[in-house]
Amino acid sequence: MKDLDKKEIEGPLISVLRGEAVDPSPIWLMRQAGRYLPEYRQLRAKAGGFVELCLDPVAAAEVTLQPITRFDFDAAIIFSDILIVPHALGSKLWFEEGEGPRLEPLSDRAALAKTYDGLDRNIVERVYDAISRVRSKLAPEVALIGFCGAPWTVATYWVAGRGTKDHAAARQLAADEPGLFGEIIDRLVAATADHLIGQLRAGADVVQIFDTWAASLGPEDFKRWCLEPTIEIVRRVRSAKPDALIILFPKGVSIDRAEELVRVSGADAVSLDSDANRTLTCKRLKPLCAIQGNLDPSVLIEGGAALDQAIDAIKEDFRGARHIFNLGHGIRPETPIAHVERMIARVRGG
Ligand code: CP3
Repeated sequence: MKDLDKKEIEGPLISVLRGEAVDPSPIWLMRQAGRYLPEYRQLRAKAGGFVELCLDPVAAAEVTLQPITRFDFDAAIIFSDILIVPHALGSKLWFEEGEGPRLEPLSDRAALAKTYDGLDRNIVERVYDAISRVRSKLAPEVALIGFCGAPWTVATYWVAGRGTKDHAAARQLAADEPGLFGEIIDRLVAATADHLIGQLRAGADVVQIFDTWAASLGPEDFKRWCLEPTIEIVRRVRSAKPDALIILFPKGVSIDRAEELVRVSGADAVSLDSDANRTLTCKRLKPLCAIQGNLDPSVLIEGGAALDQAIDAIKEDFRGARHIFNLGHGIRPETPIAHVERMIARVRGG
């Protein structure tokens, strides 16, 4: 009886991560708080900017809760950004309207020397404050997800000072000055683990590590800049919080690499992008972890029969597996709200 009560309190997402297949699969969406919601755009305009919104605990908590209030998802993800970590390590962070985030570039040893050894508490405590506020307002069965970027992905933005298509600046630095690049990665590993532990202590039930650019590395570099740092982050988080639930999102990597990441790190779930082969991945990863994903965000924009078919295929391919329904990447600003409603109803059995 006691167990049953506990399960009810935990809710479906936590049950899946702890080892149980749940039907229908729990559902949430990457970037679920964002520009496709009019209530987000309104608060964003009032806050004056994206970074300001991230660092205002009351507003960040409100934005986090908007998609839960509207759609009743099974998880909330704290409204923040992966670039808050380099910001809390001493780098200026701002948002160029219509373009994206910008950081002071970290291109040489002099720039690294100016960064901090550890996180600026003044910045990260705002994220933890937002997390505590959200957790106190969420129903017990709705999970709260904290997150960070993986060191390689964050480094691609930090070294260049902005998002780039080919990650040339980070690759170049890693090739020309592997010692210096290794120090940057080590600093990010320590700060990222601390930030995840801070989020878990503040009330996050789960954390997700976003490695959006994991697939842009060759085999040796993958091991050095993605696999090993991720393993070390999981190790540090688990030594502070032994039962921490961890989802990895190594976007676009091969099944071999995804399997190695999960097997060696001991993460609880892997999030697949839309190109992943579900049947093969399921066969290989099902014994190891839960699987999250992987609806194509452009099919959610398209809607109609194409959306229904794509949802049904995902349900079929993951039948009996520990599955969390999600997109293969973040929801796009042009997504119609009616399509999100249609998707949720269909996933839940409509
Ligand atoms: O998922 C959520 O709802 C939580 C919030 C969240 C944001 N960014 C808010 C955001 C999360 C989990 C992220 C992760 C993130 N941020 C990643 C990894 C995941 C991914 O999408 O690949 C990366 C690479 C970033 C860095 C970043 N932040 C970029 C490249 C951009 C510009 C592109 C864009 O979508 O505008 C951002 C801005 C950003 N982060 C917005 C939001 C809601 C849009 C800001 C706005 O204009 O209001």
